[in-house]
Amino acid sequence: METQHILVWRICLILALLPHPHQCLSVHFQNKGLLYVAPGRELVLQTQFQITPTEKIIMVIWDRQTEKGQGQVRLANHQDAPGNPLDQKEASFRVENISSSDYGMYTITVTDQMGNEQSANILVREIVAAPVASLSLQCEVANDRAQWDSPVFSWLVDGVELSNQTDNLSADGRRLYVSGMKGHNYTCVVNSSLGTSVTYYVTDSPTPSQSIQSCNTLCGVLLGFIIAILITCGYLYWKCRQRRT
Ligand SMILES: *[C@@H]1O[C@H](CO)[C@@H](O)[C@H](O)[C@H]1NC(C)=O
Ligand SMILES: *[C@@H]1O[C@H](CO)[C@@H](O)[C@H](O)[C@H]1NC(C)=O
Ligand SMILES: *[C@@H]1O[C@H](CO)[C@@H](O)[C@H](O)[C@H]1NC(C)=O
Ligand SMILES: *[C@@H]1O[C@H](CO)[C@@H](O)[C@H](O)[C@H]1NC(C)=O
Ligand SMILES: *[C@@H]1O[C@H](CO)[C@@H](O)[C@H](O)[C@H]1NC(C)=O
Repeated sequence: METQHILVWRICLILALLPHPHQCLSVHFQNKGLLYVAPGRELVLQTQFQITPTEKIIMVIWDRQTEKGQGQVRLANHQDAPGNPLDQKEASFRVENISSSDYGMYTITVTDQMGNEQSANILVREIVAAPVASLSLQCEVANDRAQWDSPVFSWLVDGVELSNQTDNLSADGRRLYVSGMKGHNYTCVVNSSLGTSVTYYVTDSPTPSQSIQSCNTLCGVLLGFIIAILITCGYLYWKCRQRRT
């Protein structure tokens, strides 16, 4: 009986400590914490609200301040009005052509009809260099049979095996990053207790028209050179004969 009493008392205490329903208002950004944007690009900040059925959002405010926390600027102040009701689910803020003064900490503050305020913030930083793109080949092995080990992948480029220490391979060895590689035959070998499988991808060798073209240029240069030598020899021969006579 004693322990039951304590239990009931504890539950009451927990219930009393729980936030009141009207404090359920909350706002959060779709992206968390930190965002990067390149100068001149568009920035879109999207937020979502959570409210209880008895709540109503009557004001949404957007502010920005520098990363060091100075110079707060009010960007927008949207108030619920009969002709212009506020969206009760979400809000977004857009900067079409972002410039250096647009970077910093963005804060959204929402207020409900009881005067409860909730805010969320996100840091927007400038990215200087665009992310690096790369091309890769992925070696896949179709298998629906149970096996006790995992397949080991190895790669050969034009017959030469790549060391698994190279930074051109993914950590599991399944993916080979080929950007900048000049090989023609990319071969993947998959080896496991189920057996060994080999597959390859062969790139085209330079097209014939290209090699003919390069020959044409080379031949033209050679021909010009030979003609120049012939003319010089002819001239010298003619000079020599003139002197003798
Ligand atoms: C973006 O802003 C920069 C500097 O303010 C300006 O030079 C550029 O023309 C703008 N671009 C567009 C698409 O508005
Ligand atoms: C590619 O290389 C692999 C391994 O060196 C070889 O078995 C295969 O025949 C080659 N394929 C072609 C088309 O050259
Ligand atoms: C690299 O390959 C060697 C032998 O070829 C193997 O012993 C080693 O475990 C491999 N390392 C990784 C990280 O796969
Ligand atoms: C990755 O491939 C590029 C292009 O072939 C090469 O320059 C680089 O050295 C390779 N890296 C390693 C660690 O092999
Ligand atoms: C496959 O793995 C087994 C066991 O590690 C090894 O004995 C065998 O030589 C490997 N085969 C190939 C083609 O790598």
